[in-house]
Amino acid sequence: IKWVKKWSNEEIKNLVDQEIGLIDPRIYSDQDLYEIELERVFARSWLLLGHEGHIPKAGDYITTYMAEDPVIVVRQKDGSIKVFLNQCRHRGMRIERSDFGNAKSFTCTYHGWAYDTAGNLVNVPFEKEAFCDKKEGDCGFDKADWGPLQARVDTYKGLIFANWDEEAPDLLTYLSDATPYMDVMLDRTEAGTEVISGMQKTVIPCNWKFAAEQFCSDMYHAGTMSHLAGVLSSLPPDVDLSQVKLPSTGNQFRAKWGGHGTGWFNDDFSLLQAIMGPKVVDYWTKGPAAERAQSRLGQKLPADRMVAQHMTIFPTCSFLPGINTVRTWHPRGPHEVEVWSFIVVDADAPEEIKEEYRRKNIFTFNQGGTYEQDDGENWVEVQRGLRGHKARSQPLCAQMGAGVPNKNNPEFPGKTSYVYSEEAARGMYHHWARMMSEPSWETLRP
Ligand code: FES
Ligand code: FE
Repeated sequence: IKWVKKWSNEEIKNLVDQEIGLIDPRIYSDQDLYEIELERVFARSWLLLGHEGHIPKAGDYITTYMAEDPVIVVRQKDGSIKVFLNQCRHRGMRIERSDFGNAKSFTCTYHGWAYDTAGNLVNVPFEKEAFCDKKEGDCGFDKADWGPLQARVDTYKGLIFANWDEEAPDLLTYLSDATPYMDVMLDRTEAGTEVISGMQKTVIPCNWKFAAEQFCSDMYHAGTMSHLAGVLSSLPPDVDLSQVKLPSTGNQFRAKWGGHGTGWFNDDFSLLQAIMGPKVVDYWTKGPAAERAQSRLGQKLPADRMVAQHMTIFPTCSFLPGINTVRTWHPRGPHEVEVWSFIVVDADAPEEIKEEYRRKNIFTFNQGGTYEQDDGENWVEVQRGLRGHKARSQPLCAQMGAGVPNKNNPEFPGKTSYVYSEEAARGMYHHWARMMSEPSWETLRP
């Protein structure tokens, strides 16, 4: 590998001190570090592209991105999924420009090169006359040489991931010990999940790591300030506000490898009640669907006690079990992120519940949603501040939970701490710094 070399590996390692929790703010604003990120983090990690429900039938496709690289995700005749670079090998035009559809082939709108749904170049206008066809008179041009770059593809319980790196560990190894926590949303029923509505897309002028880190590790903002106005205004009118208490019991999980993390409150359903309303809370916590979920998940963790969970699979796959918004933070330079989100729900949930998930997500975690705007405003303000020279000159504090007595909760698998902690954030930045500074999977591999 030829690395972009503007920062030495040693300098990059020192940007984050995960032991005591110090973060150099330049990791959010430096253009050269961003170029290195594209190469070493995004071209080597498993990235969330969508849900199997986005492409149920042969020929169904969506166009999306792996970081800044445009890709086509397409269902094959045998049911498998291919992901390839959405870049015509002729002069680099995007092969497919619509957001989604069903296709027998993809024809580039520049000069008409056509690719089949597996990504093979199958037709070149005036091929014989202009290029010569290798099979007939050997002029050296062979369509087989000019298919777009293919990514590795794998799925985890309905979610589609892809990775450019042949050497990277397989998806299951990559997810490490985080899978039980993903299952809280993805594996509540034999029927799995289905996706509601299409892909919602928003641009937020902030670095992708603010969003990814918050979903990985930050229940603190929900329990202290950011969402309070939204929560209080959503409570039923007969609630005595002076009696409202914020949840204070819960845990956080830091994956043993990979930078993934999650956090949740224990047993206190008031926050979920305020965000999603009684119908969703009853569906999630009581009755046959909740009992079935617990019987599937109970061997691994007490999912019925976990509320208002947030989670990030490093680097850019985030979701909120219970609220069921799922998103990819597509980076757009150090100062901007495109949020592509969709909603999942148990495939066998009653129609009324599916509709309630759709409605409540529009009010909460959506472009116009109350809580999405609370979060976005924080990230935008932090990013704006980082334009200043002095604002980039001293480390930010990620020390919460470091050095305090171990609050590991043995009811939950893996390394857990108190819910208000930055342990998972330290895990995420530790893994980020390793990906950024270690060129070989020999040392990076779990
Ligand atoms: Fe696609 Fe020329 S760029 S056919
Ligand atoms: Fe939030």
